Amino acid sequence: MGAPWSSCAFASLLFCLLSAAITQRVKVLDEVTGYLGQEVTLPCTFVPTGNEIKVSQVTWMQEAAGRKQNVAVFHPDHEPSYPLETERGRLRFKTQTLEDATLIIGPLRMADEGTYFCEFATYPSGNEGGITNLVVLAKPTNTAEAQEVKASNLELPVAVCISNRGKPPARITWQSGLNGNATVSEVTNADGTVTVTSYYRMVPTKEANGQRITCIVEHKTQPQPEALPVVLSILYPPEVTIEGYDDNWYLSRNEAMLKCTAKGNPPPTEFIWSTANGPLPKTVEVQGDILLVRNVDASVNTTFRCQATNRVGQVSTDQPIYVRGEYRGESMVLSVCGAFG
Ligand SMILES: *[C@@H]1O[C@H](CO)[C@@H](O)[C@H](O)[C@H]1NC(C)=O
Ligand SMILES: *[C@@H]1O[C@H](CO)[C@@H](O)[C@H](O)[C@H]1NC(C)=O
Repeated sequence: MGAPWSSCAFASLLFCLLSAAITQRVKVLDEVTGYLGQEVTLPCTFVPTGNEIKVSQVTWMQEAAGRKQNVAVFHPDHEPSYPLETERGRLRFKTQTLEDATLIIGPLRMADEGTYFCEFATYPSGNEGGITNLVVLAKPTNTAEAQEVKASNLELPVAVCISNRGKPPARITWQSGLNGNATVSEVTNADGTVTVTSYYRMVPTKEANGQRITCIVEHKTQPQPEALPVVLSILYPPEVTIEGYDDNWYLSRNEAMLKCTAKGNPPPTEFIWSTANGPLPKTVEVQGDILLVRNVDASVNTTFRCQATNRVGQVSTDQPIYVRGEYRGESMVLSVCGAFG
């Protein structure tokens, strides 16, 4: 009279021994990794341990939703059969022999992922099989770009980085010397891949314009993290200055000049010269950002104004001019210095 536990132990031991014998004859890989849209090979061979074992048929099954379904069957008297395939040629046996049941699947779909059973119908020992886990990965397409925003004191997304259609989802981080924050979101696509989007958010100051930050995408299918540089584009209105006034404009002087410079994003290209009282005196000549006075006379004894425009705004600045009756005599001082030097 054996106790129940001892018969249980005996049964599982026998089972272990049997499985050991089976796994020795059927050679498969525990796990195979394939890429979406590409081909994958699931190796499966039968290595007979003696002449007395006869193989009559090989069958591949896939476990889907807890149910095993035959996906590929080979019997030497018939054409190979792929019971579930609607698209011809996506599944095929590498060879049509009873020793090698290696299966090729491709182009791979996400639904191909799962557990596969390769089974040989043998005589006299019955069915013998091996299990392979197929993992389907998808290499994402990664992009990053600046989000053009106007300078402000509210936090806004200034750059976006997208890892499109990866499996598993990619990990996105940012390298930046700026005081910003990232927000990440994931969307699962119909084909099972995941699109990850990360926005870099910060208070967009005009000083941040032209600064470089880097999006780093890490993914299982990439040997190295991918670095995607982004140059920020913060829009701001022109900052206008007038240069060239030497405080030595006197009557009958030849060649006096003012230059209007303006920083801004986008860079201002249009300059309009006027005076604080209205239109320009007839004696001045405008060449874009340059205001040229060929002969200084009383009409330029005024305040000149330069207005610069870009997409964001229109800004002007003034330069008052003081026209003297005669030469101020600065170079007199210089020549006196020169006589002593
Ligand atoms: C980052 O985001 C958190 C929460 O949204 C916020 O409290 C924090 O101030 C942000 N940090 C910066 C540097 O913007
Ligand atoms: C220019 O204007 C100032 C007052 O705005 C005046 O004192 C000066 O005499 C003027 N110069 C000439 C050359 O008229």
